Amino acid sequence: MNVNGAEHSFHVDSTDRLIDVLRERMGLKSVKEGCGTGDCGICAVLVEGKLVNSCLMLAAQCDGRRVVTLEGLLDDPVMKRFQGSFVANNAAQCGFCTPAMLLAAWDLAKHSSNPSTGEIKTAISGILCRCTGYYPILDSIREGCRKEARP
Ligand code: FES
Ligand code: FES
Repeated sequence: MNVNGAEHSFHVDSTDRLIDVLRERMGLKSVKEGCGTGDCGICAVLVEGKLVNSCLMLAAQCDGRRVVTLEGLLDDPVMKRFQGSFVANNAAQCGFCTPAMLLAAWDLAKHSSNPSTGEIKTAISGILCRCTGYYPILDSIREGCRKEARP
């Protein structure tokens, strides 16, 4: 599979999950495990450009596909905007949900530079913030989506 722009080959069992390959074998620690059952969205990654829960996906399903984690977007100018807006708005409390929130925000920004609050809520609806600090997250995403926002 292609992970963050580089080709990788793995021998996997038929039951190996994508999250374990990314986190344990590749050391991509932005991919976190919360529930392990598809309920919290903390393990989100992009597969072929779509946000998915990596705890529910088998590694073998990603054969020949493009997988992107937060580590692969750290130099991306749009992601830098979100990193800046999350810091400016104190949107990370414990930070556990932050990588998934940033990926969801980045995905939303591909489609909208001025999303409504409803659109932002929909974009992050699959991701639970245990600290429940949702308002700063909404503000950060709204701010970061604006094209004129500085990285
Ligand atoms: S750890 Fe994957 S959805 Fe919760
Ligand atoms: S900041 Fe703690 S889970 Fe969201």
